[in-house]
Amino acid sequence: MKALVLSGGAGTRLRPITHTSAKQLVPVANKAVLFYGLESIAAAGITEVGVIVGDTAREIQDAVGDGSAFGLNVTYIPQERPLGLAHAVLVARDWLGDDDFVMYLGDNFIVGGISGVVDAFRRTRPDAQILLTRVKDPRPFGVAELDPDGRVVGLEEKPRHPKSDLALVGVYLFTPVIHDAVREVTPSWRGELEITHALQHLIDAHADVRSTVIEGYWKDTGNVADMLEVNRTVLEGLTRRIDGEVDERSQTVGRVVVEEGARIVNSRIVGPAVVGSGTVVEDSYVGPFTSIAENCHVADSELEFSIVLRDSSIHGVGRIESSLIGRHVEVTPAPSVPSAHRLVLGDHSKVQIHT
Ligand code: DAU
Repeated sequence: MKALVLSGGAGTRLRPITHTSAKQLVPVANKAVLFYGLESIAAAGITEVGVIVGDTAREIQDAVGDGSAFGLNVTYIPQERPLGLAHAVLVARDWLGDDDFVMYLGDNFIVGGISGVVDAFRRTRPDAQILLTRVKDPRPFGVAELDPDGRVVGLEEKPRHPKSDLALVGVYLFTPVIHDAVREVTPSWRGELEITHALQHLIDAHADVRSTVIEGYWKDTGNVADMLEVNRTVLEGLTRRIDGEVDERSQTVGRVVVEEGARIVNSRIVGPAVVGSGTVVEDSYVGPFTSIAENCHVADSELEFSIVLRDSSIHGVGRIESSLIGRHVEVTPAPSVPSAHRLVLGDHSKVQIHT
């Protein structure tokens, strides 16, 4: 069995927290979303991985390399333009050959991995297997309609009036019958060859398309509360590891990761929390469910239930909670006079100020 990982798409920079132009590299607990996907593919016993790349090919290749860091053998498959998920399967046709494969959307996060569904697929080998999850608003997703026995009877892509709250998760298991189905697909209203339509072709042809409903699904929709929540979930599973320096005036409590090259000086870190390499935390408190990425500087401050991305500094500002701080950000106290806030905020920023 092979894996086809979709990491193409246009390199649009939508808002400050899409800090990289490749949305698959948005970090959760200091690690790119894509890396969790690659790790779960390896954990499911798959080693041959084709990675679809587009405008951001350079960034993806720099991050993933030849895949050996994940125990994978990665082949890059360029897609000239993001013409749809079914188009990606067409582009990968030769590389996929006649193997079964899991198609994994690189910006999707599945808590708990995919080993269970991959094992079940290997055992039962239906024509295709999809994963579904219940969501509050299914309109931005593919949506499945099931019959009373749980069989998939219909799929719609981003419907205005969804027939259920079951959204298609970006992990699909296919036998080679999908190759005929993707050739049947014509461009949707958004100009893409939709994998959802290829699946509908299989269903219409009475192929055996099965579904599994999962929990613990996340994708970055720009919702900060959701991002803090997925960060929290991943940090829950952290194993304590102190590879960096912690001076004798500091305390690290519980599941704390201090990466090599990080320094904790006269501070208290209460886990689960992770401090990235090259980051210095001094005279500060870092509380549970906090991720501080690489090369940050936190001084005279308190941080809890927050995410700080690379190369940022937070100095002398008291307590920060439930916050997402981007890359190369500086947070400092304002001068005492005049009594005014001075803000430089990127597009779509949200800030809450004590008045
Ligand atoms: O995330 C789950 C959803 O993914 C499903 O519910 C939908 O049914 C499915 O169509 C897909 O919808 P999105 O509109 O969210 O997909 P998006 O365009 O964001 O692409 C998903 C990933 O695949 C992303 O990492 C970029 C990559 N991609 C996308 C396209 C269209 C490619 O590599 N090539 C492409 O042509």
